[in-house]
Amino acid sequence: MVYYIASTTAPVNIATLKYWGKRDKALNLPTNSSISVTLSQDDLRTLTSAATGPELRQDKLWLNGKEESLASERTQQCLKELRTLRKQLEDEDSSLPKFSMWGLHIVSQNNFPTAAGLASSAAGFAALVVAIARLYQLPQSMSELSEIARQGSGSACRSLFGGYVAWEMGKEADGSDSKAVEISPMEHWPQLKAAILVVNASKKDTSSTSGMQLTVKTSELFQERVKTVVPQRFIHMKEAIENKNWSRFSELTMKDSNSFHATCLDSYPPIFYMNDTSKKIVRLCHAINDFYGTYVVAYTFDAGPNAVLYYLQENEAKLFAFIYKLFDKVPGWETKFSEQDLQKFLEVYEN
Ligand code: DP6
Repeated sequence: MVYYIASTTAPVNIATLKYWGKRDKALNLPTNSSISVTLSQDDLRTLTSAATGPELRQDKLWLNGKEESLASERTQQCLKELRTLRKQLEDEDSSLPKFSMWGLHIVSQNNFPTAAGLASSAAGFAALVVAIARLYQLPQSMSELSEIARQGSGSACRSLFGGYVAWEMGKEADGSDSKAVEISPMEHWPQLKAAILVVNASKKDTSSTSGMQLTVKTSELFQERVKTVVPQRFIHMKEAIENKNWSRFSELTMKDSNSFHATCLDSYPPIFYMNDTSKKIVRLCHAINDFYGTYVVAYTFDAGPNAVLYYLQENEAKLFAFIYKLFDKVPGWETKFSEQDLQKFLEVYEN
């Protein structure tokens, strides 16, 4: 038996300017441009291998060791587009093996809880598309492949790049200009770090897709967000990243998370992704920033209660001293703060 195999990893990306709303559901075209930070491959990622061979009749997928259906329209759309591109190569060069005619076996593994609001679909579709594109030896650029990943899951298009990434919403009706582009590579601003506070690792109640459909249909606040708030913020956040302007970046990130969750609350019936622990984290972050009189931490929440905190490496000890004080202390963690400092902080926090 002959098999051809290719593997890739794709990291999770966390939006600092949120994508929320589709203008075209079939093509997965967004109502606004968005920006994200891709996490390091060593942290949260999907590892995917794709294999094909003349004996494989069907497409099959195993996700985290369990066979899953590939029947969803979005997955089918990605496979169809990738096969069409491969077919073009085969038509141009008849010596190429006929991969486009054979089945695909795909094995995918996440190193984090699937569908808990930790952007698993983003890493999942990005890895799927890139693994198959490698297997098929497609010449398309990452931006071009991001248009295919976008049809699997919108946020997936941003996971094709490392570092700081923009998904430009585009104007064309066929979606040909709705793609991800790199703002800056990770090395541009290596001091920026992300921590994830897993508040709840179970599957989310309202999927992003149905949540955003409801918001688009029912929220008036959403109209304001896409018309005036996000276009401005997109320019400012890009500038903040390019200039490594941490305070500006933090402020915009927190405001955009709040704005996105406000449109969820303004949907009818309302959608609640954040819970009481999430709210406690928001208060804590503001109290830490107030205590130091400068931005030490910025929070953002996706379609779930888990928090992603951005901070600068130099402030890691300052930040976690307080987090571990207020939540469970992690064994072995040495706070660099005196009891006196912590008491002072608690006075700010509690009032
Ligand atoms: C809140 O990309 O999961 O994480 O395109 O319907 O698959 P679909 O949605 P998805 O939505 C992500 C929403 C978000 C914000 C973001 O990542 O920009």
